[in-house]
Amino acid sequence: MKGIVLAGGLGTRLYPLTKVTNKHLLPVYDKPMIYYPIIALVNAGIKDIMVVTGGNNAGDFLKLLGNGKEFGLQHINYTYQAGEGGIAEALNLAAFFADNEKICVILGDNIIEKNIVNAVQAFEQQEKGAKIILKEVLDPDRFGVPVFEDGKIVKIEEKPKLPKSPYAVIGIYFYDAKIFDIIKTLRPSDRGEMEISDVNNAYIDMGEMTYEVLEGWWSDAGTFDSLVHATNLVAMTGANNLS
Ligand code: DAU
Repeated sequence: MKGIVLAGGLGTRLYPLTKVTNKHLLPVYDKPMIYYPIIALVNAGIKDIMVVTGGNNAGDFLKLLGNGKEFGLQHINYTYQAGEGGIAEALNLAAFFADNEKICVILGDNIIEKNIVNAVQAFEQQEKGAKIILKEVLDPDRFGVPVFEDGKIVKIEEKPKLPKSPYAVIGIYFYDAKIFDIIKTLRPSDRGEMEISDVNNAYIDMGEMTYEVLEGWWSDAGTFDSLVHATNLVAMTGANNLS
């Protein structure tokens, strides 16, 4: 399985921290933010990785990560997203890299405590479709939120004002090769972005979506509050080192 880290976008919610640098280069406790999703992939056994960068200072990723020696990698692939067209648009730039293989996609501002190797292995065994990971949160209205009927996910609502469950869809997704055909059918949302929740809804409509609930803590780091929250979690638990 190949791994794709999405680190494009302009990080406007963290302005002025992101006025001159890229959000994913900002510190989270003792490491730059981008280290955490890369370590999450490597610890789960995924070593063929592409980083989609964008926005300010994209060249600094090369300086920081090089060819990935620090992560035990022989090579890292890079591509560049111009602008902020959404998560699905950024992912589409990795189509040639995915080359019809299954992929694990991780958002560059998502940080997890525990190893996701079990989810990776479960998706290796899954014949087709997609898999998402859920986490119960206090503020689901900030995220993609699953709607359940009879214990099954029937829909993901993106940042609903009145969430229908207490779960967030975290920024770690597994897809088969159909994803890139699905992205071609998408239209920008009301906020002008190609939404990953629309991709997930397409898989749900096909009856090809599985899910699991994450063990351990999870945080994004894309707002002032979540950045400080993620920093404190890492500082307190010492999580997210290479295993
Ligand atoms: O953190 C999980 C949440 O991430 C999900 O629950 C939501 O369903 C999903 O839409 C997303 O929500 P956000 O609004 O928090 O995503 P944000 O715009 O902050 O982007 C998250 C990461 O995705 C960002 O750190 C880099 C990447 N990204 C984002 C955009 C908009 C790109 O690479 N390119 C982009 O154009």
